[in-house]
Formats: sequence, structure tokens, C-alpha cells
Amino acid sequence: MRINKYLADAGVCSRRKADDLIANGNVSVNGVTLTKPGYDVQEGDDVRVSGRPVKAGGQKVYYLLNKPIGCVTSVSDDVGRLTVIDLFDDTEARLFPVGRLDYNTSGVLLVTNDGDFAYHLTHPKHNIDKLYRVRIAGQISKEDISKLRHGVDIGGFTTSRARVDLVSWTNHSTLLDVTIHEGKNRQVRRMFEAVGKHVEELTRLEFAGLGLGHLKPGQYRKLNPNEVSRLMNL
Ligand code: URA
Repeated sequence: MRINKYLADAGVCSRRKADDLIANGNVSVNGVTLTKPGYDVQEGDDVRVSGRPVKAGGQKVYYLLNKPIGCVTSVSDDVGRLTVIDLFDDTEARLFPVGRLDYNTSGVLLVTNDGDFAYHLTHPKHNIDKLYRVRIAGQISKEDISKLRHGVDIGGFTTSRARVDLVSWTNHSTLLDVTIHEGKNRQVRRMFEAVGKHVEELTRLEFAGLGLGHLKPGQYRKLNPNEVSRLMNL
């Protein structure tokens, strides 16, 4: 098996990122640093990335997690905060999250050990729709909603068209549903900041059409094979 596929199957990264790791001299086989991506891994080879052994990948797994607030979307945390991976009983697979949600954002987060799957779904060219339920303090004008729909400057980047629907409002707060396909850091919060509104609660209701169903925060389920193949073919 080609070394880049071996690394992706083992859940290290996508095949493309594996090629970068090799080009940067981070990958060794049997103690020799690889310089070219063409190596075919043989049974018994000692494959390492940055000195750490990488075991051949087992079964691929795909989960949909309802991420609770108060945990980081990463595999480990320097300051010991709870990570989304800590929520999983599956300790066999090298799981990692597909994309990112903020510490204080809840909702749909895919988690897998398939590097190519994650790379595919997070690549900007695939324009994956993400639906968020947003609660802001106070009310919002029609003009500001229109600005959010047409694109706002979030600091060096103008967002593309978004779907923005008013869900409900009181004197104190307003709920909106926002669908975007970009994935800039803290994008929804920054979009509202651009029109002078502070997001008080943010939940991702859907990722590529996959919703939360009955999952409570912290619960997860396996994706079924139809869901996995639909996502792979998006
Ligand atoms: N937009 C944000 O601002 N935060 C998230 O977690 C996701 C989208």
C-alpha cells in the first residue's frame, strides 16, 4: 500500500497532507527518512511520523456527535480541558473531529478515523452547508438581516451569501437560523459582531443535511453506510 494511503488509513491525516509530511522529512520507514511519496509499505515495516510509530489502520468509523458546550474540538488540550474525543467510549480508533466548533458552541460534529473523509468534507471547494441556530441579545433590524444575507466584512474577509431566517423574538433576545457554507474561524459570531450584535448561544443544527435527531449534548451515534457514502460523494 502506498505510504500516503497507509497514513490516511491509520487516521494520521489525509493523503494530501501525508505527501506534505513526507516532503518535509517527517516520515521514516525502518529508520530511514522518506524523501519521495512513492514508497509502498510492506508488512512488518516500522512506519513513524515525527518519530512516533504508526500502526496500520483498522476499521473506519464515522460518528455524529452532539457536541456539548465546554469542550474543545481537538484530540488533546495543552491545558487539560475536556476534548470532544474524551466523550467517546471507542478508544481503539484514532478518532479526530471533522472541522471545528468553538468551546462554547454545541451541536453536530462529525468524528472519524478516516483522514481522507475529513479532508474531503472540510475542503472549502466542497461548499458544505452548515445550519446554525443563533441566539442574540435584543432584537435585529431587517437591514442588518439583509446585510448578513448578502455578506459582511468579518475582518479581511467578506462572507458570501448566507441564508438567514428569523425564528422568534422577545424584547430580550432573538433566535435566527443561519446557513453558511464557508468555515472561517468563529465565522457566525464574527458575522453578527459585524452588525453590532453579540451571539449569546450558538448550536449547529445540521452539517451537510445531517441533524441532531434525538441526541442530547454529549451523545453520539454511528453514521449508517448510506450517510457515509452520500457524504463521500458530495
Ligand atoms: N461559527 C462560529 O462562530 N462558531 C462556531 O463554533 C461555528 C461557526
